[in-house]
Amino acid sequence: MVTMACSYLILFLHFLLLLNFIFLSHATSIYDSFVNCLTTKSIPQSEISKIVYSPNNLSFNSILQAYIRNRRFFNSSKTSKPAIIVTPTEESHVAGIVLCTKEIKLQLKIRSGGHDFEGISYISDVPFIMLDMFNLRAISIDVNDETAWVQAGATLGELYYNIWMKSEVLGFPAGVCPTVGIGGHVSGGGYGNMLRKFGLSVDNVLDARLVDVNGRILDRKSMGEDVFWAIKGGGGASFGVILAFKIQLVQVPQTVTYFKVERFLDQNATDIVVQWQNVASKIDNNLFIRLLIQPVTAKNKEKVEGAEDTKTIRATFIALFLGDSSTLMSLVSKEFPALGLTKKDCFQMRWIDSILLWANFDNTARPEALLNRTGDSLLFLKRKSDYVLEPIPKDKLESIFQKMISLGKVGLVFNPYGGRMNEIPEDETPFPHRAGIIFKIQYSANWNESGLVAEKDYLSQIRDLYSYMTPFVSKNPRQAYLNYRDLDIGTNDQGPHSLEEGRIYGIKYFKNNFNRLVKVKSMADPQNFFKNEQSIPTQTHSIHAKWTRKYRRMFQSR
Ligand SMILES: Cc1cc2nc3c(=O)[nH]c(=O)nc-3n(C[C@H](O)[C@H](O)[C@H](O)COP(=O)(O)OP(=O)(O)OC[C@H]3O[C@@H](n4cnc5c(N)ncnc54)[C@H](O)[C@@H]3O)c2cc1C
Ligand SMILES: *[C@@H]1O[C@H](CO)[C@@H](O)[C@H](O)[C@H]1NC(C)=O
Ligand SMILES: *[C@@H]1O[C@H](CO)[C@@H](O)[C@H](O)[C@H]1NC(C)=O
Ligand SMILES: *[C@@H]1O[C@H](CO)[C@@H](O)[C@H](O)[C@H]1NC(C)=O
Ligand SMILES: *[C@@H]1O[C@H](CO)[C@@H](O)[C@H](O)[C@H]1NC(C)=O
Ligand SMILES: *[C@@H]1O[C@H](CO)[C@@H](O)[C@H](O)[C@H]1NC(C)=O
Repeated sequence: MVTMACSYLILFLHFLLLLNFIFLSHATSIYDSFVNCLTTKSIPQSEISKIVYSPNNLSFNSILQAYIRNRRFFNSSKTSKPAIIVTPTEESHVAGIVLCTKEIKLQLKIRSGGHDFEGISYISDVPFIMLDMFNLRAISIDVNDETAWVQAGATLGELYYNIWMKSEVLGFPAGVCPTVGIGGHVSGGGYGNMLRKFGLSVDNVLDARLVDVNGRILDRKSMGEDVFWAIKGGGGASFGVILAFKIQLVQVPQTVTYFKVERFLDQNATDIVVQWQNVASKIDNNLFIRLLIQPVTAKNKEKVEGAEDTKTIRATFIALFLGDSSTLMSLVSKEFPALGLTKKDCFQMRWIDSILLWANFDNTARPEALLNRTGDSLLFLKRKSDYVLEPIPKDKLESIFQKMISLGKVGLVFNPYGGRMNEIPEDETPFPHRAGIIFKIQYSANWNESGLVAEKDYLSQIRDLYSYMTPFVSKNPRQAYLNYRDLDIGTNDQGPHSLEEGRIYGIKYFKNNFNRLVKVKSMADPQNFFKNEQSIPTQTHSIHAKWTRKYRRMFQSR
């Protein structure tokens, strides 16, 4: 009996070994074919062995996790992990990586800073290679020209710091979170607290270097104006691998002013928000006042022992003014008196220090902190976005606030538009949310608790609030911001209905610019190699789909 059990066990162990062998040799064979292919693309063996990682390499997981910025995707299952990670150290490597991924017929995912809210730069349902750009992060600033070349793997913090080192009166209009990557941020639009004065990051892009589907390194001239237009807000990952952008720097004053004031419902917060809606997109372009709306526990001064905490809404007004504090004070007391801003709320500082404060560093932080590529604590995140074209009436705001209190866990961020945004035509870049927008809403849920129960709760809350907001936001289409990636608004399975599927989210992100993006895509990448869950589809698929439908109908009618 014992020997019987033993031999079964041995047999079983053999079976496990065999499985293991099949699995490993499969993994190795993808690795080998990729590496062999790279050697034919004139990349020296000594360099290849330093940049290609299979899951068997010890540092595979740490490389993968280093730029995962959303904890929801940190412990991804085996199926959604890359088969290979490749970390080029030269721009010329990228050409070979594109060609070889194509040759071995895998999907390519491209990651720069890894801040995609849905993690689509580093996870996939199909076998894929992840191209990680973090080694390509050179920044060269030309102070005389007031321009810079920035490689895709650089972060916003590194860019701001490097500009600052060369000049205290130059800056760049881009996002407020210093660990965001240039590659995704700029190719998706890119906005920050100088948007009303200078527009988006893409409104200040002069040139780019891109590796196309044929492994050619192109610049603005050789890629042509159509592709150059498309990568300024249409999402880089549909068109190629962005190596670098050349940007126009902008002039910032020696001294800027910052304030952050909080108002609760019992301090007339609702009236202040009403006035904010009428002012924030029309006031002097030098002033940007972001508004955060959060359900919080009321600070009850005379709290009765054992009584339940009461909930309220906190409205936080955070501002950057490109000027001094007395000019700011007279502007705000004249046009936005409801805020009740006082001189002691206003802090004058250098532009670089305002970046640190906006990034939630304390006021002792030094500019070098912007070089830190590790973000704050890793949280579970979900974001959604909306655009508001008409001020929301006071009674409706009150009902929204009550809804937020009853939900309890979702915050809203209102970012005012107007100014420069009104002057730029809707089709100047793929980013269409321009004149007529009063403000953008970011829906934000952040949480700490792991597990599916918590996830389900937060996701259903944020979706509930989004649905509640329907009457107050843009319609036909209900617009959304590409860089606040939200797979709820539609995904593409890249099959025969790819064009129709793409149109659903594409119209929301790009309005009518979607049609031009499809044309450019069909020219630049007709085989649809550069694809992801929300990429721009090609036209060729649609012809195919039409024929498929036609034949299916013919079949069915028989
Ligand atoms: C904490 C936080 C704060 C944020 N703050 C702001 C803000 O203030 N303003 C704002 O506008 N946005 C903001 N965002 C959104 C941010 O702009 C987008 O998530 C942006 O796409 C991130 O770029 P990335 O390179 O870091 O991300 P990644 O995840 O690396 O990439 C995002 C997308 O771009 C593609 N991509 C990346 N690199 C390349 C490349 N080299 N070539 C082609 N395609 C590429 C990816 O495949 C993916 O589809 C914030 C996001 C987070 C998480
Ligand atoms: C990964 O492992 C292979 C096989 O051991 C090795 O040749 C290669 O150099 C490793 N890659 C890196 C980037 O260390
Ligand atoms: C990932 O999973 C491991 C093992 O379950 C756990 O210990 C770790 O905390 C998780 N990491 C994150 C960031 O959630
Ligand atoms: C709120 O508004 C009322 C009426 O306008 C006013 O009397 C009161 O002083 C305001 N409260 C605060 C805290 O500003
Ligand atoms: C970088 O930031 C992380 C997270 O905030 C922190 O733990 C670390 O100490 C910082 N590193 C440096 C060199 O400042
Ligand atoms: C996450 O947990 C930390 C530590 O417990 C806490 O300080 C932080 O406020 C929490 N963040 C959120 C969004 O809940």
